[in-house]
Amino acid sequence: MTLQDKSAYGLDGVIAAETALSHVDGERGELIVAGARIDTLAFAMSFEELAARLWSLADGQPRDPKTTTRQFGQARQRAFARLPQLLAAARDLPLGAGMRAAIAALGPEPDLPPEVVLSGAMPVITTALLRTQANHPPIPPDTTRSHAADLLYMLGDGAAPPSKVRALQTYLVTVCDHGMNASTFAGRVIASTGADLFMSVTGAYCALTGPLHGGAPEPVLAMLNAIGQAERISPWIEDALSRGERLMGFGHRVYRVRDPRANVLKDAIQGLGEGDLGFAAQVEAYARAALAKRYPQRPLDTNVEFYTAILLDTLRIPRQAFTALFACARTVGWTAHALEQQRMGRLLRPASRYIGEGVGGR
Ligand SMILES: CC(C)(COP(=O)(O)OP(=O)(O)OC[C@H]1O[C@@H](n2cnc3c(N)ncnc32)[C@H](O)[C@@H]1OP(=O)(O)O)[C@@H](O)C(=O)NCCC(=O)NCCS
Repeated sequence: MTLQDKSAYGLDGVIAAETALSHVDGERGELIVAGARIDTLAFAMSFEELAARLWSLADGQPRDPKTTTRQFGQARQRAFARLPQLLAAARDLPLGAGMRAAIAALGPEPDLPPEVVLSGAMPVITTALLRTQANHPPIPPDTTRSHAADLLYMLGDGAAPPSKVRALQTYLVTVCDHGMNASTFAGRVIASTGADLFMSVTGAYCALTGPLHGGAPEPVLAMLNAIGQAERISPWIEDALSRGERLMGFGHRVYRVRDPRANVLKDAIQGLGEGDLGFAAQVEAYARAALAKRYPQRPLDTNVEFYTAILLDTLRIPRQAFTALFACARTVGWTAHALEQQRMGRLLRPASRYIGEGVGGR
């Protein structure tokens, strides 16, 4: 379909809300979350502390990070106790769809805020679905652990070493929030109607799953695996581009330079001392050059998903769970935006230009 007026094509640059949560500067390649640059924040704050800070900014209610951390543990426990109901419609579906069904089955808990119920439940659902589908019983959470440590523990490899916990925490903090991205916008639209946070997060998760948004890291790994060796980088990428395919892990709607989260996650992988960064760097360099040659007017650089794929793979997270892991982090951002939108109290309702027949009797 050809649009007659492309001014709002994809809503680029349209401001739909004011936010105190995060800011993406696409020209300078800068991301500010909760008032701090992501390259500083990612190694300085725990995921639970950041959640407390974002939620406080969103609804103006101060939160004690220690209380929030304790509530995260309670929410994981509560979700585990409710797994039979949560997984009832989910266990026979592919993981991405199973997550949708399980999230949709979540509901309020009398003694926990909904943003914590949702954020705490995500890793429980993710790990339980992964294990159930592999014919293993789910592992109950250990509330004495941090959210990142417990996520790795519930996957089933025992207590993860501190280096892995640190790397996962860096990932969770890094992708926790990112301005008015597609899933956050979807969640804010739902929250703006007065619907509750459970409705909002279910919708936001659905928007996340597409390959143009949070579904990209699994194809990134598939691409790296398919290329396989240095000699195949050039022919593989040239073939893909000549077939009109998009290279997963490159390009961004807002960034015109390298996504700052890519460097943070690359540093996190280096901190692990594992993972084949040499080969990945060769693929990245070739892909950037090939994209620059093909689209000289449109800078297409590395985005967050390229190193997400490598980091999560190095942490032995099964690739079918990459988008679910993204959701484990982003639920904090989604709920914060939903709270902020509710506080704003304005229904989001854009317009469309009618190009059909029948107006004025014509
Ligand atoms: C993220 C993304 C959806 C942004 O898309 P967008 O803002 O709509 O992209 P643009 O409209 O500016 O694209 C301009 C041109 O570059 C091409 N392009 C954009 N990203 C590309 C990529 N990763 N590989 C190859 N070509 C790409 C588009 O096809 C388009 O070509 P055309 O004019 O011949 O149709 C897009 O870059 C993409 O699909 N990337 C791969 C998926 C991915 O990594 N997603 C995770 C994002 S964090």
